[in-house]
Amino acid sequence: MQVLIDLYRNVLSDNIKNITKNTKRSIVQSHHLLVKQCLTTMLLTFLMCLIATTSWAQNNNSPENITALTLEARQLTKAYMKTLKKALRGSIIASGPAATINVCSVSAPAIERSLGSQHNWQISRTSTRIRNPNNRPDPWERRVLQNFASKIKQGAPVKGLEETAVINLNGRPTFRYMKAIPVGNVCLTCHGRKISGSVATAINDRYPSDQAKGYRRGELRGAFTLYKYLN
Ligand code: HEC
Repeated sequence: MQVLIDLYRNVLSDNIKNITKNTKRSIVQSHHLLVKQCLTTMLLTFLMCLIATTSWAQNNNSPENITALTLEARQLTKAYMKTLKKALRGSIIASGPAATINVCSVSAPAIERSLGSQHNWQISRTSTRIRNPNNRPDPWERRVLQNFASKIKQGAPVKGLEETAVINLNGRPTFRYMKAIPVGNVCLTCHGRKISGSVATAINDRYPSDQAKGYRRGELRGAFTLYKYLN
């Protein structure tokens, strides 16, 4: 882009120099030259507009960019799940499930911040039945969770469900991505139907309006939700 701007500037200043020089030539000759130089300038202007439009599209919702963003979001989601599961398992073994509640409420946001800040993404988790009120879904997230639920009803496996969109968020064009989270074995300790007394007490103390108990293995627990501003 900078190369083109420089080229544009040089051609313009050459044109002005030539026009001054050509005042001594015949009027017809200089008229031809002027038309030629005008055409060059117009062609360059057109080229610059074309490049500007293409690069704008790449920064926004061109199909190539959406594919690249979707891949990036998938990778971040995978890394998040892996890190969180590892932290959960490690802590349950080392300190027991009641103490692991701290891991969940402290580690999850920390992972979200560290993964997200590397690439300007905002990462979090949401659900229709939330434990932490801060994880409440916004209208787009609620709609996607409903879509996931109806696809599951029709027999789709929970694991592969994802959805993307480019929508306005906080007044800015934004790429959004959601991926369904199934309930695994390790999750049942704190989200299942039979939660041990000490774990249930710890959860109820910290989250008095908890709605995230009573799940069975394989059900839809919620979703990872990611977004990135496009400009
Ligand atoms: C040791 C207990 C514990 C285990 C095990 C656990 N969670 Fe959680 N989970 C929590 C707590 C506590 C929160 C609230 C975290 C917060 O404050 O942000 C939570 C929040 C969530 C949320 C965010 C939405 C909400 O309800 O606030 C999702 C999604 C979630 N858990 C899914 C899972 C999945 C999937 C697993 C298994 C891989 C799992 N959890 C295992 C305790 C646990």
